[in-house]
Amino acid sequence: MDVEAVLQKILPKIRPTDEERAFVEGLMRELEGIAKETIESLGLDVKPHFVGSLAKDTYLAGDHDVDLFLAFPLDTPLEGLREKGLELGRAIAEKLDFYEIAYAEHPYVRASYKGVKVDLVPCYDVKSWRDVRTAVDRSILHNRWVIENLRGRNDEVRLLKRFLKGINAYGSEIYIRGFSGYLAEILVIKYGSFLEVLKNADFMLRQKIIDPGNWLKREYETAMRTVRREAEADRPLIVIDPVDPRRNVAANLGWERYGFFYFKAHQFLESPSEEFLFGRATRSGSYLSELRRKGTHLVTLVFQAPELVEDILLPQLERTARGFERALSREGFSVLGWNVGHSGNKAFIMLEVDRRERERVKIKPGPEFFTERGWDFYRKNERVWLIGKRLFAEKTVKEDVIDVIVELLEKNQVAMGKSVRENIRDAGIMLDYVPKELEDEAYLFLSREKWNL
Ligand code: CTP
Ligand code: MN
Repeated sequence: MDVEAVLQKILPKIRPTDEERAFVEGLMRELEGIAKETIESLGLDVKPHFVGSLAKDTYLAGDHDVDLFLAFPLDTPLEGLREKGLELGRAIAEKLDFYEIAYAEHPYVRASYKGVKVDLVPCYDVKSWRDVRTAVDRSILHNRWVIENLRGRNDEVRLLKRFLKGINAYGSEIYIRGFSGYLAEILVIKYGSFLEVLKNADFMLRQKIIDPGNWLKREYETAMRTVRREAEADRPLIVIDPVDPRRNVAANLGWERYGFFYFKAHQFLESPSEEFLFGRATRSGSYLSELRRKGTHLVTLVFQAPELVEDILLPQLERTARGFERALSREGFSVLGWNVGHSGNKAFIMLEVDRRERERVKIKPGPEFFTERGWDFYRKNERVWLIGKRLFAEKTVKEDVIDVIVELLEKNQVAMGKSVRENIRDAGIMLDYVPKELEDEAYLFLSREKWNL
């Protein structure tokens, strides 16, 4: 199938239908009414702003979370913003279906209304980057910039986002290190379409610096500081934020995800198919046959997941896995790879190791040489020597990787996240075996299938 035909087949699946649009727009008007009414009743001077992909009309069908930002005047002190912002968010959320408090740089309210997630985020009502005081303040500016510059290419953004999701490279969270929605929008604006972004996958890497806001002409010193800092940090791309010359929009994009995008872009252009955008059905292979093929072994720790949001939990699990990697290599095992995650309320850490046991020489003290047991000891052991009148011998012992891990844990010799340490004490530790619900995960990990180029 040629590429246009593939895109025409994909579009109806990712473009929201008229019904969905009508529902979403109704919902936004309703929420705006509730917000305004609540602001008034509390006597606050706050402007509600919709931001994010809903406000920009770049959301994927079926994926319409609401970001409602509550913009406080610039002269509000930071403490006041935190307090009043949370109070206002709560008061609005009381009128919705349910809510909880979420913690980022500043606490905000995460509510749900008619089955849709609604984030109520306090921020400053900034007019320019010079006013920006908190991490979320730029969003209103982003929104305006994208709406002004996208000019009808909304579906191209949808295609690019869907492609990035299909290849597991979407999301700027630190445990993904992929492309954010805003970065996808900027790339479409810069290169014109989904296909042009793919075609430029190597060009943009060589060019390195993307400056859609022309900051290098307008604010040379500030923009250059960003470029130098980000070049120093060896980022794959430096995309100077069109609304703030101090920020690299691609600061969280890692080399692995960019590289994966680079290969997949080439492959898609060469032989386009829907698979890229919707992912392949997970291959059913057996993790046991992978272990046989590779001659390696799999250690899996399963334990109660600490009650943390994913953004915090996953980095902690990763840190713990790296801790095991270092500790085990000190103990003579080499770790070929690791994988972490959670399913339900269980967290897991998988370690692929090169061997299941190690041999170690231990010194075995024996009896005095002139006794009857002395002769016995002398005959039974290979290398025997004397220290004073006492016999000593070398003994080779085999130690199981599981026993080594148990000992490392007992002696507190694995670096790990604090909340993980609490729960890992009661972990189940398995060798070359995983519970049924982790079988696919183990296979995908051992075969590295998800990341095979
Ligand atoms: N944002 C950002 N940088 C990030 C993540 C988010 O600047 N690394 C800002 C952007 O202004 C973005 C807003 O936060 O528009 C909302 O973020 P998010 O919901 O993650 O992105 P959306 O653009 O709404 O995309 P999606 O369709 O995935 O929700
Ligand atoms: Mn969003």
